[in-house]
Amino acid sequence: MNTINIEDVKEELKIHEKIKIFDTTLRDGEQAPGIALTVDEKIKIAQKLDELGVDTIEMGFPTVSEGERKAARRMVDLGLNSNLCGLARVMKKDIDAVIDSDLSYVHLFIGTSPLHRDYKLKKSKIEILNQAIEAVEYAKDHGLTVEFSAEDATRTELNYLIEFYKGVENAGADIINVPDTVGILVPPTTRDLIRILRKKINVPISLHFHNDFGLAVSNSIIGIEEGASQVHCTINGIGERAGNTSLEELVVSLKIAYGANIAVDTTKLYDTSNFIGSITGIKMPPTKPIVGENAFAHESGIHVDGILKNTSTYEPIPPELVGHKRRIVLGKHTGHAGIKSKLEEFNIEVSPKQFENIYNQVKALGDKGKCITDEDLKSIAITELSTS
Ligand code: KIV
Ligand code: ZN
Repeated sequence: MNTINIEDVKEELKIHEKIKIFDTTLRDGEQAPGIALTVDEKIKIAQKLDELGVDTIEMGFPTVSEGERKAARRMVDLGLNSNLCGLARVMKKDIDAVIDSDLSYVHLFIGTSPLHRDYKLKKSKIEILNQAIEAVEYAKDHGLTVEFSAEDATRTELNYLIEFYKGVENAGADIINVPDTVGILVPPTTRDLIRILRKKINVPISLHFHNDFGLAVSNSIIGIEEGASQVHCTINGIGERAGNTSLEELVVSLKIAYGANIAVDTTKLYDTSNFIGSITGIKMPPTKPIVGENAFAHESGIHVDGILKNTSTYEPIPPELVGHKRRIVLGKHTGHAGIKSKLEEFNIEVSPKQFENIYNQVKALGDKGKCITDEDLKSIAITELSTS
């Protein structure tokens, strides 16, 4: 059997265009049930996102409160490197709220699918398109950069969606964004949709995918393959319902597997994830890719033995690349190599007989369903040294 040479795969897949990260942790992320941020918290998060290196921060929805507008103005005053953007419906009052917040970038949206047209908006296709065009013209007349979303794009009739996006493009939109509002895309449908849109639209295409089927990251990658150049993401994937494309998973996949040029500093991912987890109260499970506590933790004897010989045996990337740490965990699956390396780390020297006793005690505790911390191991070893 031929072995796969990862370097060759990378060359084939290589993405040459810069991929922009549009972070919506402070907007779609904050819309997640159970999250409500104060102005000060929003400012701290914006600073973290800026340090991380995201291209754009969607800071919120300025029309909803004075607090949102105040937060926006304070962010503008910070002179961040990231662009700052505010969400607005296709209404003058919403666009005015963006302007009043001192922002120069608006993310406009209106529902385009039959469900949104007939039930939510009770408007015809042409009425919705005209309202969208008017809003783009108004925003452009006020000097704003305009990104336009056809909400529920992925359940909109394709012909109308193309006509709609062409309409807003001709009216002056600088970028069009494709929301998969209820996360119904799968990789093949994503490929078809973005391939078609890429042929019809001249301005850059951005993606905004929800994770209802757990496919937001995969679909975003397919969309990039088909020529999209920006992805909406959130830290830890937080957002409405099952959330949005997870920034850390997307960025690492695109950088590692596609060699993509993305401004994000991956070494800050773990710290940023923890920061967002604490401030929002939405903690990540240990199994969360890239930033979960177990993402670089090893317990089983076979894995630990491999890791101690060459860390790549059981790790896809070095933990330092994402600011994380490798952990050797002791438990019932622990082997000799794991305990030996821990004792060496603690500078505890034992005889072969003492080592065997320590090893058996660790196994016995593991069989009782216990996890053995470093402190437990030290205490087992010290007791063993003092009694034998
Ligand atoms: O998911 C969605 O459709 C949105 C829009 C506001 C773009 O978040
Ligand atoms: Zn959304």
